Amino acid sequence: MCGIIGYTGTSNALPKMMKGLSVLEYRGYDSVGVAAQRGKETEIMKCKGRIGALEEKLRDHPIEGSHCAIGHTRWATHGGPSDENAHPHRAGEVILVHNGIIENYKELRAELADKGVAFLSETDTEVAAALINDCYAVSRDPIKAIRSATARMKGAFAFGILFDGHVGEVYVIRRGSPLILARGADGYYLASDMTALLPFTREYCAMKENEIARLAPDGVRIYLSDQTEVAPDWKTTTMTPESAQKGGYDHFMLKEIHEQPQAVVKSVSPRVGKTGLPDFSSDGIEADFWRGVKSIQIVACGSAMHAGLVGIRLIEDLAKVPTTVHIASEYRYHPPIMPDGTLVVVISQSGETADTLAALRYAKENGVPTLAIVNAVETTIAREADRRIYTYAGPEIAVATTKGYCTQASVLWMIAAAIAHATGRISDEKAREVVQSLLCDVPAAMEQMLSREDRYRKIARGLIDHEHVFYIGRGVDYALSMEAALKLKEISYIHCEAYAAGELKHGTISLIEPGTPVLAISTEKDLFDKTESNIREVRSRGAQVTLICRSDIPVHQETADELISLPVSSDAATVFSALLAIQCIAYETASLLGCDIDRPRNLAKSVTVE
Ligand code: AGP
Ligand code: GLU
Repeated sequence: MCGIIGYTGTSNALPKMMKGLSVLEYRGYDSVGVAAQRGKETEIMKCKGRIGALEEKLRDHPIEGSHCAIGHTRWATHGGPSDENAHPHRAGEVILVHNGIIENYKELRAELADKGVAFLSETDTEVAAALINDCYAVSRDPIKAIRSATARMKGAFAFGILFDGHVGEVYVIRRGSPLILARGADGYYLASDMTALLPFTREYCAMKENEIARLAPDGVRIYLSDQTEVAPDWKTTTMTPESAQKGGYDHFMLKEIHEQPQAVVKSVSPRVGKTGLPDFSSDGIEADFWRGVKSIQIVACGSAMHAGLVGIRLIEDLAKVPTTVHIASEYRYHPPIMPDGTLVVVISQSGETADTLAALRYAKENGVPTLAIVNAVETTIAREADRRIYTYAGPEIAVATTKGYCTQASVLWMIAAAIAHATGRISDEKAREVVQSLLCDVPAAMEQMLSREDRYRKIARGLIDHEHVFYIGRGVDYALSMEAALKLKEISYIHCEAYAAGELKHGTISLIEPGTPVLAISTEKDLFDKTESNIREVRSRGAQVTLICRSDIPVHQETADELISLPVSSDAATVFSALLAIQCIAYETASLLGCDIDRPRNLAKSVTVE
């Protein structure tokens, strides 16, 4: 997803733009650009491609002595990657960068074209710039122009805007896309997320929906939609520049895989009461709240949705509360039944995923209590949900989530235990056992699994020459297979499909040929025999089988070509160990193929468009 950055102050702006844009690369992009004020002039430099291409252009045409600039990494939605479609866009006296989608841009473009506006790009963003310019021509006031123009826009936007003649001033507004402000010793900043600004400051203020802000060397002024002014609510982030760097690992993804044992502890321990029982009171959630939950609808995208699939098993098995999982982009188009006592739980690592945010808003519009499980603090989803539980995994930079998913699953396990204990379904002893298994068994088991790189690399070598790979499993192992398949395909570009092990024979087994890699996951002891039958079905058709299986099940030599044994200190330890194995298999496969592991093609870390 695109990244926006901006600065105004006493220092040279361009180096800050380039540094911030390089940090924002992890969000995924296809073109990049900057606009910098020099005196009354504003220079724009932009191009298709990576930041290196922009640096080359700037070497040929340096922009020096600027103290006020905006920058952008674009993830194309309207018009392909090209120099003309890259941001910033100029329209008359307005220069802007944009994250989001202007859904009614066609009608606005036609209206402006009728007024004689000539467009140079295919983007919706240029239309937004032209509309703001059109309003500015009347009001001659940036705040009024932004307010009247955005009142006519439908869709999502975060804008960073410069106006000719307003030297040293940057204007911002957000609706549906993330934007934060920051305060440093030498000036003021804006960015799509805090990681871009960690090299300069840790003091930030999250912009709220429809707020407009004016940044200038003398300070920040924030205006509500009713034109009243509010003071910035400055906070200090717990993130540090180091926490957003690779820490000696080859890739952010590998660093974040290795952070998982501690990430689980960070996500669980704030929810453990003095008596060792599950306790979410620090999140403002008491036992009475859990007792009022009669059904749960989990709504999310991608891996977050896959974590929800694990959550179903945990919540229904432990707490006996009917639970369903919904793909966020589908949720509001087939209105789900929401009986009294329904709790909608949205899960999002970034806290800014547009599809998930839209589903959250739909639930709230229908008067249903909402709970968000989010990693990035102070984000839109976290702020708009009635209640939120942060996963505290720390910044996740790699596009392919690992610790984000892992801590979502650990929080869901704690919620299941909290509901089950609050409703008397499980004893104090059982509840403490769940807590201890997450705090002790899981980290120990994951550390044990991390030391098996050679096994994962050997299995990866058996995958890299194939176009199609299958993961199969039953029960929670089918949910894990869904995440395993996504991890493998999103970073190695090998097609991978997850299948309920018992379902494969109802059609898809026709795709199994001699040598087709099939990876079977078996963490549920009582389902192993059935899964073993399915393994035999594919092996009899020549499949190369890797079995990822709990170590207390005797596996015959001929059952699988490769075996990964899982610790069995507890059910949670076994499940999280299987998770770590599938993440490492995906990582090693992509590594052998030389893929851009942290920034896979076409993908974005936070998909802030629908
Ligand atoms: C997972 O590796 C992908 N990056 C993607 O599926 C991601 O989980 C999905 O886009 C949801 O993102 P969120 O958790 O930030 O809402
Ligand atoms: N919709 C705009 C474009 O296609 C912005 C996309 C983005 O958020 O990067 O240029």
